[in-house]
Amino acid sequence: MKKASMTICSLYKVGDVDKNIFGSFIEHLGRAVYGGIYEKGHPTADSRGFRRDVIHLIKQIDVPIVRYPGGNFVSGYNWEDGVGPVKHRPYRLELAWDSTETNEFGTNEFMDWCKEVGTLPLMAVNLGTRGPDEARNLVEYCNHPAGTYWSDLRISHGHKEPHAIKHWCLGNEMDGNWQMGHKTPVEYGLIANETAKLMRMTDNSIELVLCGSSNSNMRTFGEWETTVLDLAYDNVDYISLHQYFGNADGDIRNFLAKGIELDRYIETVIACCDYICGKKHSKHTINLSVDEWNVWYHSHGAKFEKWSKAPSILEDVYNFADALVVGSMLLSLLRRCDRVKIACIAQLVNVIAPIMTETGGKSWAQTIFYPYLHASRFGRGSVLLPVIESSTHNTREYTDVPDIDSLAVHNPEKDELTVFAINRDLSDAIPFTVNLLDFTGYSPIEHIEMSGYDLNAVNTAISAPVTPKTKKVPYIEDDAFTVNLSPLSWNVFRFRKTSG
Ligand code: AHR
Repeated sequence: MKKASMTICSLYKVGDVDKNIFGSFIEHLGRAVYGGIYEKGHPTADSRGFRRDVIHLIKQIDVPIVRYPGGNFVSGYNWEDGVGPVKHRPYRLELAWDSTETNEFGTNEFMDWCKEVGTLPLMAVNLGTRGPDEARNLVEYCNHPAGTYWSDLRISHGHKEPHAIKHWCLGNEMDGNWQMGHKTPVEYGLIANETAKLMRMTDNSIELVLCGSSNSNMRTFGEWETTVLDLAYDNVDYISLHQYFGNADGDIRNFLAKGIELDRYIETVIACCDYICGKKHSKHTINLSVDEWNVWYHSHGAKFEKWSKAPSILEDVYNFADALVVGSMLLSLLRRCDRVKIACIAQLVNVIAPIMTETGGKSWAQTIFYPYLHASRFGRGSVLLPVIESSTHNTREYTDVPDIDSLAVHNPEKDELTVFAINRDLSDAIPFTVNLLDFTGYSPIEHIEMSGYDLNAVNTAISAPVTPKTKKVPYIEDDAFTVNLSPLSWNVFRFRKTSG
């Protein structure tokens, strides 16, 4: 019989959720910047060209950190091109995405935009075509108060106060042969370590992300992690993971189980970190930065004009099935919140993104916007260590896939409890029981559900059929509630302490 249960107690925790797990990513790629977050002359744009309609959508999600400026782009980027008077900034061939980069938008514009959005930067440095010198100069430009060449240059560019950027990525996907300046693990480990040293000498308050593998299917996965960690362990704080899932073959049951692969990837990288920690007899813990993750396949093979400015590329239009997989990936990140401390859905606007815009026109929320919004808004607090029982099924690639994927987050500050649950079954409603061992006095607030849509249903500028609905809330009786989870559904059950 298909059924599932979760038993939780507020005392048993996986760990506290770092809000940076709900981060995102803006790359100089396609229409993410130009026509996305920035568009001079757009009816909603402010005097700096920041689209207010887009900011409004981003604020709904409450995005705490945004990675920038790439991605593959950063491995060929001269950051100096993007500062100072715009009329003096050069146009460049952008080799990662076969586009022309105008440099109209750069570091200072991004920092101004972050302030407007209420988010913080995760700034990446170029370790592809450049190295330690340019990286430490960028830290000096951004973070040093005044009185040196680079800090005074920033001041002369109209930014008296330092940007105080705390989080930095040491390059991007340096294990991939598509990357400008692709490196072996030894080459990368050495240059990342030297770069980290110089960046920290410039500002010792910063935190650094070392590049892990581009995905867990890379031939060098595992060996890459242990080698680069061995070479740079003491000078970094995080190692990155990137994971995109696709459904090109249309095997929906298999696609819906993909979260399992992310769970395994996370577990393996934690093991690599802890192996090197043990080998070095170190007291320093390396955490995980899953700084690119999402579904990505709809736009593969789309054509565009080479060397055009801000071409419409990687503009995946997400369907309801994708929203369920994104929900499951969010649960995977939360499940190991004790070690996953940063994560960035890739990306934020237009480019494989929850938010879409028309250049000169509307903006709207894609299907995947909603699970991301729910996790960010209601997934803050402590993830509880649950006892879970669920019937299972097998798919083409995965065995023992739980029919119900679930997780609970307790927010003691707000006295709130949220239970997330996904029913992966294609046709059956499945009874799901939650046993609340010590949540006396908690009353239901709402049950948000996304279900009943065609798996291929999408949201567009003119219609948004895939939006969450609020349903009748289950009652807690005898410290438990049971609810029939609709087939193919994303569910958020919210409770708040009202008595006791
Ligand atoms: O997010 C799109 C691209 O995917 C990034 O530029 C790169 O890092 C990854 O391969």
